[in-house]
Amino acid sequence: MSDPVTRVAELLDRAARAGVVEPNAMALATVDSEGRPSVRMVLLKGLDDSGFVFFTNLESRKGEELRANPHAALCFHWREFETQVRVEGAVELVTDAEADAYFASRPRGSRIGAWASEQSRPLPVFEDLERRVVEVEARYEDQEVPRPPFWSGFRLTPATIEIWSGKPSRLHLREVYQRSEPDAPWEMQLLYP
Ligand SMILES: Cc1cc2nc3c(=O)[nH]c(=O)nc-3n(C[C@H](O)[C@H](O)[C@H](O)COP(=O)(O)O)c2cc1C
Repeated sequence: MSDPVTRVAELLDRAARAGVVEPNAMALATVDSEGRPSVRMVLLKGLDDSGFVFFTNLESRKGEELRANPHAALCFHWREFETQVRVEGAVELVTDAEADAYFASRPRGSRIGAWASEQSRPLPVFEDLERRVVEVEARYEDQEVPRPPFWSGFRLTPATIEIWSGKPSRLHLREVYQRSEPDAPWEMQLLYP
């Protein structure tokens, strides 16, 4: 049986071929320093043996929570073929080189927006955001927009991956893969649905 990271990569391909809009959208759950969870959608931007990569503002709520407690959970759902994938593991910051490369690939408007948005902090009136966008555009007129120091990515190294496949009569297949450390072999166990 192929390893679960390869299986998730195949499912992402299948979702893209099935015409799913943003097949790489996933729920990201974090917890605060008192153990209270929060969840939001983010986009998966890299997947390989080393883990699941997403990008964000490091001073956002999720960024602060991940830096205080570097553990997270992800959840994908592709209803077109009745599949859910759950992932849990430790997170770490990607390298500056990785963050720079991904940031440089983003449309200019998104790069301007990364500077203009104080993500997760109170915005008194929407016009304040629009004014900040105009200021950032003026600052970088005729120049490349560099990556803000407060914007980067995280890599979640999976310790557990569950692939849930919908079956008739709710007799769903739950395959849970676990490994004790990143280089250890994966072990698979079924769970009752
Ligand atoms: C489909 C979708 C994809 C999103 N992708 C990202 C993303 O990749 N990075 C990000 O910072 N926010 C993304 N967002 C916005 C987040 O859901 C969230 O509103 C924002 O990051 C602030 O979250 P926080 O206050 O919990 O940190 C996305 C939202 C949606 C609906």
